[in-house]
Amino acid sequence: MCGIIGYIGEKQAYPIVINGLKKLEYRGYDSYGICVLDNEKVFLKKRVGQILEEGESEFNGCVSIGHDRWASTGGVCEKNAHPHEYNGFYVVHNGIIENYKELKEDLIKKGHIFNSDTDTEVIAHLISEEFNGNLEDAARKALKKIIGSYGIAVVSPKDKDKIVIAKMSSPIIIGICKDGHIVASDPSAVIDYTKQIITLDDGEMAVLRKDSYMILKEKKIETIDWESDSISKGDYAHYMLKEIMEESKVIESATMGRLLDNNVKLGGLESSKERLEEANKIFLIGCGTGYYAAKTGEYLMEEIGGIDAEAHMGSEIRYRNPRLDRNEAAIFVSQSGETADNLAALKKFKDAGVLTLGVTNAIGSTQTRETEGGVYTRCGPEIAVASTKAFIGQITVLTMISIFLGRQRNLSEKKAEEVIKELRDIPFKAELILNNREEINNIVQKYLRFKDFWFIGRKFNYPIAMEGALKLKEISYIHAEGTPGGELKHGPLALIDENCPTVALCPRDSVYDKMLSNIEEVKARNGKVIAIASEGDNKIKEIVDDVIYIPKTIEALTPILTAIPLHLFAYYFALALKRDIDKPRNLAKSVTVE
Ligand code: F6R
Repeated sequence: MCGIIGYIGEKQAYPIVINGLKKLEYRGYDSYGICVLDNEKVFLKKRVGQILEEGESEFNGCVSIGHDRWASTGGVCEKNAHPHEYNGFYVVHNGIIENYKELKEDLIKKGHIFNSDTDTEVIAHLISEEFNGNLEDAARKALKKIIGSYGIAVVSPKDKDKIVIAKMSSPIIIGICKDGHIVASDPSAVIDYTKQIITLDDGEMAVLRKDSYMILKEKKIETIDWESDSISKGDYAHYMLKEIMEESKVIESATMGRLLDNNVKLGGLESSKERLEEANKIFLIGCGTGYYAAKTGEYLMEEIGGIDAEAHMGSEIRYRNPRLDRNEAAIFVSQSGETADNLAALKKFKDAGVLTLGVTNAIGSTQTRETEGGVYTRCGPEIAVASTKAFIGQITVLTMISIFLGRQRNLSEKKAEEVIKELRDIPFKAELILNNREEINNIVQKYLRFKDFWFIGRKFNYPIAMEGALKLKEISYIHAEGTPGGELKHGPLALIDENCPTVALCPRDSVYDKMLSNIEEVKARNGKVIAIASEGDNKIKEIVDDVIYIPKTIEALTPILTAIPLHLFAYYFALALKRDIDKPRNLAKSVTVE
């Protein structure tokens, strides 16, 4: 939520900052802004809407900060775009200042005039109040007055040749380049220039200069292994399609080197092995798509892992009071590793002595640093706001963790071998579905006139039904809901008629017959049905309107294969409706607000 970027070095800063803003645009695309310092001169530019320019050097200067905005406090307009300036102090900010109203009132009483409706602007005013010749001192004193979350970058011609940055609950990294330094909200904005990064921790501040950086404490330099072309669209029209098309490779990469004959090797769980063996319950926590992966994990842990499992939304569990103890473990599922609600829940579980683990995609993210262990999903950068390949990576990793837990408990060698053997084949099966994408597109074309959709599934495929519905509503703005098939008769069936089609997930599994009964219930109300079914299932063809076939697999692995056609379904739907697929309205990736 909001992207911040800055450069100080030998090169012209403007093109570097514009390029970084484009890379971070998935974090917010209501408006953007940039300021460039050239000695005493400052160039400031703010625009509403997405970045269309190519980043030609419009302004001279080797120091610059910029910002992609996702509006939280104050509407979408030029005056609310960052950087915010007061008395020569320029600030970009990601986060929320909770006590900004009180601070603003005090400042107004002192004669300050505000130019925007944002919370951020108070930071520039506070720095101006505290300034005594040294920008970092002023920033430190100003931040002491602030309650809330922030990742900030500050520049001023009054103390030039430096960028002051600080972090509290919003991510900030420093990229160390040959010709200078870059500050950014995440590594995707720096990998065109360097792979050497430092991640700032909460409460830390740093001063970046052309040839040096100063952090209050000694930090480790990490190397990011993402390639620069992994964050380009390549030949695809949208990042989302590119990322869906990578789903089979994601399964391959998530499982690579981790599958043994009848067990899995997960380095990130090694140090927690004993505690996991003793654990009597697993909590799985995520938000949005991450929650649906967690919910799939709940079924996997119970069935394969042989352990009680409970999935929760980070945004809810953080405010509840579950009885927690040291004999429990919690797995946090997140692509970005920066989702504020998850991080708040993580703190709660950690404080209670629960073993905390992460299933995370973003390397070096807060979640990976705050948990005691975990497993990377290894999906590479995910840029489209709607999460697709990360979801596939998450459920693949959760399947492996279930095998790990199962082998510590009652999962037999034979059963583990069967799941692992099938897991090895899943990338090829996923590829077959991806190759069939035109057929899914053809089916979508028949349903474009509908404004409501119902998605149903049972057991392992109930969370996938919710994931399919979320994806459709998120990028096509079509109303969709996902419920267990067995719940239809308890209410939702009242909505089913010829105007509300149902997408039914019914691979050949232990609940197949029950799903067929649900489909009959829908058909009896004149509802159209699109089934996602196992290849060779000719019976279903007779009952439903359209079928998308997926290869056969064992029950526990069906979620991986049923999710892929639903991602394609949502993509083609949104494409036909000409939606802004990679940047759906009102949303942003990496939700760092609560
Ligand atoms: C939906 C989507 C969101 C995210 C959610 C959590 O397509 O992308 O629902 O899944 O905001 O994000 P992470 O995984 O970064 O914690």
